[in-house]
Amino acid sequence: MSDGREITEYEKYIRTGPLLGLQKTADELVCHDELAFQIVHQVEELWMKLCQHELALAVRLIEGDRLVEARVTLHRMYLICGLMADQLRLLETMSPRAYFTVRSALGRGSGQESPGFNALLEQPAALRTATRALLKRRAVKLIDLHRDPARSPEMFALVEALVDFDEAFQHFRQRHLALVRRIIGGRTPSLKGAPAELLEHGVRQTFFPELWLVREQLFRDFTPGPPLFEDDVDETHHH
Ligand code: HEM
Repeated sequence: MSDGREITEYEKYIRTGPLLGLQKTADELVCHDELAFQIVHQVEELWMKLCQHELALAVRLIEGDRLVEARVTLHRMYLICGLMADQLRLLETMSPRAYFTVRSALGRGSGQESPGFNALLEQPAALRTATRALLKRRAVKLIDLHRDPARSPEMFALVEALVDFDEAFQHFRQRHLALVRRIIGGRTPSLKGAPAELLEHGVRQTFFPELWLVREQLFRDFTPGPPLFEDDVDETHHH
């Protein structure tokens, strides 16, 4: 029972009671925009939770040689990252002044402490390992896959789906940096030092560096000069 009435099946299943109790009440808000700030962060945490769940499945599917299903799952992760990036836009409607008020209430809390984000930084390593093992199992070199995608289209589509996910996660970080610049400016020191520098470093990070390097190596095929990064790219090669 809630407010003297029966809880509906919908409320029971979606758990709307607990869910909608997770935000500050109107009386508790330090300013009008704080609700948007809190909800966007909460929704982002939920998407990151779902992304982790999907990522764990993608690893199992690759390990089980179920590449078509793995690609479907990676596509879902790509879409989730897109939502994560898009939703940051809502906070671009927050004035710098309102953010300052909210930040005062935030104490020393920082996005760097986001459990979902930190898990998402760690977890793709398993995806990378599973993909390397797959290439090895099938005796396919990444560079050969790129030289002739039609020879192993299933594998090519898989590594491209990994690049899609990598790029979408980078896009989230880029959108976040754009938001930070817009709200606090590029050179404002934050609680933890110079945020722009820290965040710019993050934007350059990739989960699957070899999938980016192989592009440089491929273009070396068409330009004279010594091969680039042969050891980095060539995962299946043994001396
Ligand atoms: C008004 C909006 C926002 C501002 C002004 C802002 C500001 C910042 C700043 C200055 C940092 C650098 C670390 C620090 O100084 O604490 C940071 C990091 C971070 N923020 Fe935000 N943020 C905002 C919204 C969000 C949202 C909605 C999320 C969603 C999850 C988020 C997630 C993160 C994460 C994950 C980091 C760590 C990034 C990394 O280490 O690369 N932030 N944020």
